[in-house]
Amino acid sequence: MDFKLLLQPQRFVVALAIASLTFGSPTLAFMAGSGLTQLKPLSADFSEANHLSCALHALGNNYLDFNHLSNDNASDQSQFSAPGGQAGSRVPVIAGNWKLNPATVEEASTLLSLLASNFINHRGGIAAATPEVIVFPPFPYLERAMTLLEGTGIKVGAQNVGVESKGAFTGEVSPSMVRSLGCEYVMVGHSERRTLYGESDDTINSKIKLSLQEQGLKVILCVGETLEEYENDLLSSVVSFQIKKALQGISRDDIVDTVAIVPGTRLVIAYEPVWAIGTGKVATPEQAQIAHAVVRSTLQEMYGEDVAEKIQIQYGGSVTPDSISDLISMPDVDGALVGGASLTADGFTRIVDGAAASLSTY
Ligand code: PGA
Repeated sequence: MDFKLLLQPQRFVVALAIASLTFGSPTLAFMAGSGLTQLKPLSADFSEANHLSCALHALGNNYLDFNHLSNDNASDQSQFSAPGGQAGSRVPVIAGNWKLNPATVEEASTLLSLLASNFINHRGGIAAATPEVIVFPPFPYLERAMTLLEGTGIKVGAQNVGVESKGAFTGEVSPSMVRSLGCEYVMVGHSERRTLYGESDDTINSKIKLSLQEQGLKVILCVGETLEEYENDLLSSVVSFQIKKALQGISRDDIVDTVAIVPGTRLVIAYEPVWAIGTGKVATPEQAQIAHAVVRSTLQEMYGEDVAEKIQIQYGGSVTPDSISDLISMPDVDGALVGGASLTADGFTRIVDGAAASLSTY
């Protein structure tokens, strides 16, 4: 076993890992392994994401390099299974969250044109095996995105919506407005909205309700725990609580997509551990699977197994072309919500290709 202890507060986790291996408890060993390997550094691709460094500084190197422990236990996949997990029954969905980027409509148009060219010129032949692909540009670029992406199969979504449909609400944008532009998706509950703009679970719930009233509009609901919550073993309760509050009063009939050709729902959940967003520290596939299984079992509790099995669950947080294949190979990881790496056409297209490759194994 080869590992490096980088910071004092993690010692108890190391002790737990050693004890687990010594005393033969695979579950304990696995949990320790997941905690220790959660923060693996990423490729240079990510240097383009200009928001990385703040979060990196905030977290520091507060983690361990513990690859052997991870590998020792990675083969035991049985414990990762979701309730009734059915890999392959859901179409993967890759979404690009542009956040407050790029700075001008000219730059946005260039990115959109490059994406369009990638999809039309290089991906036409494998259209049947293409995951669902969505981009979420800032509001002022939505109409341009609809135009430039026409014919590519790439859908367009809005990063946020308000809680009112019309009236004296300066600065707000309603779900009906973005739907009338042709947007198929809205994103709700992103951790940056929760923490930087104080969005509560009740607000998120209102936004989802209003969005689902718009015919043809679907919702990506983002949930995820902070590093502190993760370290205190609160992942499961936090994620489950966020989902239940966000979907309070929303019925099966509200989310089942009755018009879709392929049976599906109008709801996608993006599990995004806050400690992985914009930090370059992607969750391991095993960690993601554990969290996704929690998401699915919460949905099963609320809507029954048949509906829960249809809901796509994305992983988000420092996803790159290098990490997508392993993540998406997990039974309950049905795609990715990509921030920094969606800001280059090359990076985003390669992530879509990585997800598409997983379709051929279904
Ligand atoms: P990231 O962002 O890929 O830059 O970590 C993901 C997100 O915030 O949706």
